[in-house]
Amino acid sequence: MMDVAPSSPGKFKMDKPHHHHFHHHPSTARLLLLRWHHYFPLSKFAIWAFFAIALFAVLFLLSPRAPSDAADSGSPSSSILGGGGGGEHRRSLRTASWGGPDWEKRVRSSARIRRQPGGLSVLVTGAAGFVGTHVSAALKKRGDGVLGLDCFNDYYDPSLKRARQALLKRAGVFVVEGDVNDALLLRKLFDVVLFTHVMHLAAQAGVRYAMINPASYVHSNVAGLVSLLEAAKSADPQPAIVWASSSSVYGLNSKVPFSESDRTDRPASLYAATKKAGEEIAHVYNHIYGLSITGLRFFTVYGPWGRPDMAYFFFARDILRGKPISIFEGPGHATVFRDFTYIDDIVRGCVAALNTAGKSTGRGGKKRGPAPLRVYNLGNTSPVPVADLVSILEKLLGVKAVRKVVKMPRNGDVQFTHANITLARRELGYHPTTDLRTGLKRFVRWYLQYYHPNLVKKSGSKGGSTSS
Ligand SMILES: NC(=O)c1ccc[n+]([C@@H]2O[C@H](COP(=O)([O-])OP(=O)(O)OC[C@H]3O[C@@H](n4cnc5c(N)ncnc54)[C@H](O)[C@@H]3O)[C@@H](O)[C@H]2O)c1
Repeated sequence: MMDVAPSSPGKFKMDKPHHHHFHHHPSTARLLLLRWHHYFPLSKFAIWAFFAIALFAVLFLLSPRAPSDAADSGSPSSSILGGGGGGEHRRSLRTASWGGPDWEKRVRSSARIRRQPGGLSVLVTGAAGFVGTHVSAALKKRGDGVLGLDCFNDYYDPSLKRARQALLKRAGVFVVEGDVNDALLLRKLFDVVLFTHVMHLAAQAGVRYAMINPASYVHSNVAGLVSLLEAAKSADPQPAIVWASSSSVYGLNSKVPFSESDRTDRPASLYAATKKAGEEIAHVYNHIYGLSITGLRFFTVYGPWGRPDMAYFFFARDILRGKPISIFEGPGHATVFRDFTYIDDIVRGCVAALNTAGKSTGRGGKKRGPAPLRVYNLGNTSPVPVADLVSILEKLLGVKAVRKVVKMPRNGDVQFTHANITLARRELGYHPTTDLRTGLKRFVRWYLQYYHPNLVKKSGSKGGSTSS
């Protein structure tokens, strides 16, 4: 059998097979054997190639991110906890291009301290947000270095965030466009600037939206916080961190006013749960890495440049449009109260928290001694029925509201909030001074100028009635 192999396989000429004579025709059998030997090495190769392709296909299908997805996420970006969300609400870590000498120059210049001694250099996350814009402007005004970071997501109209960014630009604050989950970007920022402090305000806010897009809360408030603390703990020197928790951590508590020592283990919304998780995460990074961390529990902040998803804001809009507004009531027609806190008071609380934050003690990712871990309520201590808020808005806008009283749906809202601010008063010198009427007057004036400049110009009465 061995001798039947052709001496020159390339020239081997195939005969037509004679199947019906196979067992009885020795020359046909020999020819078939010849062909088998000729093709055997090739078929072995084909089998291996088939397995290799199949393995590759399986690995490709099992990989968490398809290559096209990765290419789409913007470069450079990496996250310690992966991308955000899922399904139709998925938000990628899409980060506008950053880096390069010009970009670094802008970053440095924005973060440069212009008052001595004692000036701070602060990274403000969520800088294009409501509170972030006000805090950034206030710090810049007193000569601190301020660099903003914001992902400009579309939870509410991004054009309002862009307008705030433009405002900050005029004040000399550069807002970098990026996600706090972008670990490479954060590392770069901490390489370029020796931040003394971080004011971490970036978050997915809003209580009800958590039922629509729960993943965005985990992405920004849990993963984003961890990403930020990871970068801060590795920075040398480590900055002190001040970050926004929320009054919502008091959840279903009925003892009022809410004090920092009260229980916070019964959140009523996923938003509240992520803020509570943040407080526990803060404990870990303080304990292991010596980061100085201060959590501020804000109580319903309102004012100019505010958030369109908040009641005072869309009430004003809907009153002007003649649209009915829903006023919630609790079980048994109970009144819903909110401890509305004016933005300037919150800003003073934030700045005082930065001023008094003790130093972080870690170096090279290692703790060298105990560091401060603080939590404060920043509220107004005078809760107001939501119906009263509407009455004030009616007067300021000069338009009667179409009120609709409805049962408060069980979707995360609580019946009342009321801050005990004794601790903040004692340790931060925090004294809120703006009552709801005064604060709303300033809000309405801004609102009309921003959304209805023609109305303000034409109607002296409307513009006039809102100026303080
Ligand atoms: N306004 C209030 O009444 C109130 C009350 C309690 C707590 N807080 C907290 O205060 C902080 C500021 O709130 P605000 O009212 O200014 O909200 P905001 O939505 O106006 O500001 C948050 C900003 O963070 C940005 N952001 C969100 N996720 C991000 C991410 N992953 N990376 C980078 N940027 C991201 C958003 O684009 C937004 O501009 C938040 O942490 C919020 O939870 C606010």
